[in-house]
Amino acid sequence: MEKREQLYEGKAKKVFATDDPNLYIVSYKDDATAFNGLKKGTIAGKGSINNRMTNFLMQQLEKEGVPTHFVEELSDRETVVKKVKIVPLEVIVRNISAGSFSKRYGVEEGIVFDEPTIEFSYKNDELGDPLMNAYHAIALKLATREEIERIKELAFKVNAFLKAFMKARNVDLVDFKLEFGRLSDGTIVLADEISPDTCRFWDSTTHEKLDKDRFRRDLGNVEDAYQEMMKRLGR
Ligand code: TMP
Repeated sequence: MEKREQLYEGKAKKVFATDDPNLYIVSYKDDATAFNGLKKGTIAGKGSINNRMTNFLMQQLEKEGVPTHFVEELSDRETVVKKVKIVPLEVIVRNISAGSFSKRYGVEEGIVFDEPTIEFSYKNDELGDPLMNAYHAIALKLATREEIERIKELAFKVNAFLKAFMKARNVDLVDFKLEFGRLSDGTIVLADEISPDTCRFWDSTTHEKLDKDRFRRDLGNVEDAYQEMMKRLGR
């Protein structure tokens, strides 16, 4: 496996081509942004933690029947993944009210839902990732009806696994964001990352925030929270 030219640089990761046309290498950065890049900073050690946590969780999810882009962890920060075309939707699953849900509907954080919710945002920085329903996504040809159904099925499967997995480690899975991609044959697989950047994790006992909200809201001890989550996973 040979690393070739950089194809893309996002806010938290870089993507490189390889000598294999079906494989990419992703490289995780310590850079952190919030509010569509308005707030910038670094979280020391984040790249390594998010890389290793994502890979560990994706391997567990594969065992649960969720196909992912994961291939092989190369180093602390770098991972080989299958080449996909990202479906430009942020898929957000919620178990407990928080963040933009609480703001939009004017409710406090911490309301435990009877059933998980799902929503989509159009992945488009210029537009600020606007909320979008499935009909809009189909109308704009971002995904087919069948792909949306598959994405919903996989997202809820991820939630069922991750929620129980975290609960066993005294962590409440509040909400999270997933991204899916298409392999060259059209198969939908889980892509991007699953990390404290993309999930809300609350300690089940103290309700202490163990995720990127510590950075977004200037709560302090950001690095400690990421490290604590790795410890909870036994990593
Ligand atoms: P929200 O409450 O701000 O909509 O966030 C819901 C979840 O999605 C939360 O776990 C954080 C995650 N998220 C991202 O991963 N990327 C983003 O750009 C945003 C806004 C949220």
